[in-house]
Amino acid sequence: MKERILIFDSTLRDGEQTPGAKLNAREKMEIARQLARLKVDIIEAGFPISSPGEFKAVQAIAREVKGPVITALSRIVKEDIDTAWESVKEAENPRIHVFLASSDIHMQYKLRKSPEELLEQAVEAVRHAKKYTSDVQYSLEDATRSRKEYIYEVVEAVIKAGATTVNIPDTVGYAVPDEFAALIRDIYEKVPNIHKAVLSVHCHDDLGMAVINSLKAVEMGARQVECNINGIGERAGNASLEEIVVAMRVRQDYFSRFETGLNLKEIYKTSRLVSGLTGIPIPVNKAVIGTNAFAHSSGIHQDGVIKNKETYEIINADLIGGQAARMMLTARSGRHALQYQLAEMGYVLPGDKFEEFYSRFLDLADRKKEVYHEDLEALIADQIALDYIPTFKLEYLQTVSGTKSVPAAVVKLNREGELFQEVASGSGPIEAAFNAIDKITGINVRLDSFNIRAVTEGREALGEASLKINSGGKVIIGRGTSTDIVEASVKAYLNGINKLILKNGNGHPPEAAEKPGP
Ligand code: KIV
Ligand code: ZN
Repeated sequence: MKERILIFDSTLRDGEQTPGAKLNAREKMEIARQLARLKVDIIEAGFPISSPGEFKAVQAIAREVKGPVITALSRIVKEDIDTAWESVKEAENPRIHVFLASSDIHMQYKLRKSPEELLEQAVEAVRHAKKYTSDVQYSLEDATRSRKEYIYEVVEAVIKAGATTVNIPDTVGYAVPDEFAALIRDIYEKVPNIHKAVLSVHCHDDLGMAVINSLKAVEMGARQVECNINGIGERAGNASLEEIVVAMRVRQDYFSRFETGLNLKEIYKTSRLVSGLTGIPIPVNKAVIGTNAFAHSSGIHQDGVIKNKETYEIINADLIGGQAARMMLTARSGRHALQYQLAEMGYVLPGDKFEEFYSRFLDLADRKKEVYHEDLEALIADQIALDYIPTFKLEYLQTVSGTKSVPAAVVKLNREGELFQEVASGSGPIEAAFNAIDKITGINVRLDSFNIRAVTEGREALGEASLKINSGGKVIIGRGTSTDIVEASVKAYLNGINKLILKNGNGHPPEAAEKPGP
């Protein structure tokens, strides 16, 4: 039998304390619903005494969200506890969470009261909360900078007063793993009634050790872990929920005694939702959920993954409901990696077509640092269009434009080995190029619509041009892509003209078109 580790999510309370991460009631509700789908055990919905809006948001979550325990944070003040209870009392399983600092520095400078006096108030607060509900959690704020003897005393007293969960926070992210593990072990050894409560930990990430400290505590007997989606929270944040639960799952060989009740498939979605609503971006290299967590860049890694994913992947993206492995294709990616990525996208190109595609890919990769999925989709669409209509191909394009010059274009087209060149002017470089094409083909069409959009992000993004040309009522759509929007537009125009020629069955350029000189 595995031991169940309870996951206490504080994204809506400590997570919301991230500077700039303020959520409104509707957003909090949306996240709470998703946390319930993720099947966290406890949702800390907020700190209701802080404002009437916060009270209402917590109350709405308590009323609506079923499954997890819903808790609200409270200082030891009676009015706080009463308000916390009012906000959660309609929950399926309500909990009151009371906290008070236990370190000398907090007691002396912040609270300005003696340890004895504060201990009495802590006990009184738990007793008061206990009048409302059997489920009361007590947290010793700044526990890791507190005197151990005082910690034992407080923990024993609050359990005696009725606390069913006792939480040991590393409030300022000060602890190091072995030291924190020893603290948890010592609490088990020195507090006689410790087995009457669930021991919980709550780690901050000021020194980047929140996750490892939490996992160490689990090994030492902690059975509730407080953590936040994407690791957001006060200052450097809290222990990241996804890292803790996925580490426990992926390293089941090591954490074989433990399990959580989480539906891991909801992790990716939850992470994106929290990032979207709080506006706190997920670093690309964030463990488990960063965009690069399943991307392979170097040629050696790509080759390994193609042969067997396990060579460089320890987490199956499917486990967290994420996207499958992606190759970061660059000019250094070989044919093998490109072929693999195309196959993943459902395209298998025969030998000569693949070679043609590969040289177009290299051409793009030389201009862009990274070629994304969407770039490949656009290149494929381009290639299919070219394969379908082998009429005119763009051989050469040069345009001139500027504030003091007349926009002009030189266009050279290849038609089954024969070259045609024209020069034309226009109101801009794109119109000039279209006019030059019209001169070569001898076909005049009306442009009904014309759009350019960036297919991917960044200054070097691939642009896609799509347009509608109209020839005597026949409307044809043309499209083309390039990192140069004039070239993308010319390709789109040519694509439309070629389709029109094919439709009309008149495959020959007019005699008027001039052949290029030697
Ligand atoms: O970090 C902390 O000590 C807290 C408590 C309120 C649990 O967030
Ligand atoms: Zn905290």
